[in-house]
Amino acid sequence: MRPLSWHCPTDPAGPTSAQILKILLVIYRLIQSNSYATKRDIYYNNTQLFGSQKTVDGIVDDISCMLKVPRRSLHVLATCKGLISGDLCYMEEDGTRIDCNSSSAVSSINSRNKLAPLTAVAVSSNIDGIRNIVSCAKFVLIVEKDATFQRLLDDDFCTKLSPCIIITGKGVPDVNSRLMVRKLWDTLHIPIFALVDADPHGIEIMCIYKYGSVAMSFEAHSLTVPSVMWLGLLPSDLQRLRVPEDALIPLTRTDENKLTSLLKRPYLTSQPDWQKEMELMQQTKVKAEIQSLAAIGPDYLTNIYLPNKLRYGGWV
Ligand SMILES: *[C@@H]1O[C@H](CO)[C@@H](O)[C@H](O)[C@H]1NC(C)=O
Ligand SMILES: *[C@@H]1O[C@H](CO)[C@@H](O)[C@H](O)[C@H]1NC(C)=O
Repeated sequence: MRPLSWHCPTDPAGPTSAQILKILLVIYRLIQSNSYATKRDIYYNNTQLFGSQKTVDGIVDDISCMLKVPRRSLHVLATCKGLISGDLCYMEEDGTRIDCNSSSAVSSINSRNKLAPLTAVAVSSNIDGIRNIVSCAKFVLIVEKDATFQRLLDDDFCTKLSPCIIITGKGVPDVNSRLMVRKLWDTLHIPIFALVDADPHGIEIMCIYKYGSVAMSFEAHSLTVPSVMWLGLLPSDLQRLRVPEDALIPLTRTDENKLTSLLKRPYLTSQPDWQKEMELMQQTKVKAEIQSLAAIGPDYLTNIYLPNKLRYGGWV
């Protein structure tokens, strides 16, 4: 652990008190709201103030040392939250070759008597340094939740239908997951779909990938992919597919408020189809998780819902 450099105002290379106070404030907010951020998220939240990722890393380490608590207790994560899998290989900055396209154990047979599914790889912490991206994927599927992502892995989704890449930021995505989606879009020029719960929280997460987060509005275009399409779960799917009623959940007051405020966001005025879906949710006053499709059939999501959507263009 390096010494506490802010005791030494003559050290020109040390962090400024504005930088340190900012990070203390961020940590305070994270703990107060019981949420987590990566060091990368903190840097990206104010790149001008911090100047470099190293500055943030150093200050976080110092605070952890000064308070004698591990970094995790400060609600700051070192690594990325996101996972990625599918038809994709690339080289990290240090020369490591990353293969998201191979099975975890080639010889092993999993519980469902199939070949082991593809492995998932943690999203790189240095997206800028990624080189030599190779992929035959036909599309990228952003998956809101880790549970759904794992399910698609188990069901071998990426090799069954057509080659594709699946990525999850495990809920509200961190900066690296978003940078990775952007990188794939810039490099591969293939469609990017989102699979989220049919609820206001899912829609908000999809908007973060597509338009950016409200909290980080300065962050600009390097993090967003304006062409993200809403594949599912659409509020209109719930009626069309006759999802059983006991799999639907009534909207809470908080949900309704969030939906109203989402509908007021200026960028949605250019998305009439999204607005229509959201208004349908407002009228029916119900939401549903992706898992609700299991009420129709246990393998419905992977074997019927997604293939049909992708084949017949069921996105907005
Ligand atoms: C980013 O900045 C905004 C506004 O200052 C703040 O609300 C948010 O909590 C910050 N997020 C992180 C991860 O630092
Ligand atoms: C991924 O694996 C499939 C099947 O083995 C292969 O056809 C494809 O070329 C691989 N893609 C990459 C990027 O290595």
